[in-house]
Amino acid sequence: MSTWLITGGAGFIGSNFLRLLHAAPPARLLVYDALTYAGNLASIADLIDGDTVRFVHADLRDRAAVNDVFAQNDIERVIHFAAESHVDRSILGPRAFVETNVTGTLNLLMAAYEHWTRAAGTRRFLHVSTDEVYGTLSPTDPAFDESTAYAPNSPYAASKAAADHLVRAWHHTYGLPILITNCSNNYGPWQFPEKLIPLMILNAIEGVELPVYGDGMQVRDWLHVQDHCEALRMVLDQGVIGQTYCIGGHNEQPNLHIVQTVCDLVDQRLGRQAGTARKLIRHVEERPGHDRRYSINAGKMRSQLGWAPRFDFTRALGEAVDWFLAHDEGCARFAAVTTCASTSSNMRNACGDHHEKHYPGRQRRHSPAPSHAMRIPFQLVR
Ligand SMILES: NC(=O)c1ccc[n+]([C@@H]2O[C@H](COP(=O)([O-])OP(=O)(O)OC[C@H]3O[C@@H](n4cnc5c(N)ncnc54)[C@H](O)[C@@H]3O)[C@@H](O)[C@H]2O)c1
Repeated sequence: MSTWLITGGAGFIGSNFLRLLHAAPPARLLVYDALTYAGNLASIADLIDGDTVRFVHADLRDRAAVNDVFAQNDIERVIHFAAESHVDRSILGPRAFVETNVTGTLNLLMAAYEHWTRAAGTRRFLHVSTDEVYGTLSPTDPAFDESTAYAPNSPYAASKAAADHLVRAWHHTYGLPILITNCSNNYGPWQFPEKLIPLMILNAIEGVELPVYGDGMQVRDWLHVQDHCEALRMVLDQGVIGQTYCIGGHNEQPNLHIVQTVCDLVDQRLGRQAGTARKLIRHVEERPGHDRRYSINAGKMRSQLGWAPRFDFTRALGEAVDWFLAHDEGCARFAAVTTCASTSSNMRNACGDHHEKHYPGRQRRHSPAPSHAMRIPFQLVR
C-alpha cells in the first residue's frame, strides 16, 4: 500500500491536516517530525496506530534518516510542513531556520528525486509555504497573488523563500512533480502559544500583560487552519504539477483589533466585567523589520479549484478561545516560557514578571537563541 509522508505532522497545521486525512485515509500516513519545541505528539497521539498512521521521530537535517524513509516505504506523496516557523525566533537565531527550512527541504527533495525517478506515476511533492515570502504591502497595494515578486524581509521569510526556489528548481531541472502553496496567517486548535492569537488568549485568561508590537496596526489576512487544510487537500488532488497556489482568508485585520476582540471574548467567557482584559494591552517596542501588511488574492484557488474559506472569523475566534480555555492548565505552563522568545526588551521584561508570577523563585528559562536544544514542554491533555 502506498504511503503519504507528512513532515512536521506533530506541529500546528500538520496535526490538523493529519486529522483531516485520517477521517478517510487515502493511503498509509507516515508522520516525520523531530519534535522540536513546537512539535506536540499529544496533538496526534490518538491517531497513531502503527498501521494506518505511523510516526517517525527524526530530523529533516539528517540526510540519512530522510533517505531511509524513502528507501523503506513506497512514498507516493509528500506534504512538507516541517519548518522553523516563528519570525521572532528567526531574528534571534537565524541559523536554525536555514538548517531546517533550506537544508532540510533540500534533503527531502534529493531523496524524493532519487527514489521517484525509478517509478513515476501519481507522485506529488506539496511544499507548504507562506505569504511572508512576498514582503510587505502598503494599505493601498493590491493583494499578493501567484505572480507577485519575492521580497522576503525576515530571516524566517528568507529561509522559506529559499526553500520555495529550491522546490521550483527541482521541478524545472529534474522534473520532480511539485506543488507550492503560499498561505496567510492561520489560527485554530493546537497552535503553539508563541503566535499572536493563542498567546493573547492565554495571557488574557491568566490576567497578565498583552504585549502588542508598536501601534498594533500591522495587518494580516487570517485563515482558519481547517480552511487551509481543505485547500491543501484540493491542491494535492487537483493542482497542476509545477504550479503555485496562494491561499488566504479574505479577512484582513490589524493585530490590535485581533487582540481587542480576544480580550472581549475572554471577558465574556469568564463572566468578567467588559473591558477588564483590554486594560492588560501594552504597546511595546516595534519588532525589527516588521512587515506592515499582508493580503492574499486567492482568486486562482477559487476559479481553478473551486475553493473558498468557510469559517466565519469572529465565530471561529470565539471557538478558539473556548478551545484554549478547555486546555488552559496545560497551556499556562509553557505560555510564560514562550513569551520569552520576544526580541523586544520590553517584552522580555514583561515575560520576566509573568514568569515570576507563575514560577516564583524558579530560574527563568530565557531563550535568546532558540534552537533544537531548547525544547519547551508542550504536552496538552485533550
Ligand atoms: N502557522 C501559520 O500561520 C503559517 C502560515 C503560512 C504557512 N505556514 C507554513 O506551514 C508550515 C507549518 O506551520 P506550523 O505553524 O504548523 O508550524 P509549527 O512550528 O507549529 O510546526 C512545525 C513542525 O515541524 C517540526 N520540525 C521543525 N524542525 C524540524 C526538523 N528539522 N525536522 C523534522 N521536523 C521538524 C516541529 O517539530 C513541528 O512539529 C510551515 O512550513 C510554515 O512555514 C504557516
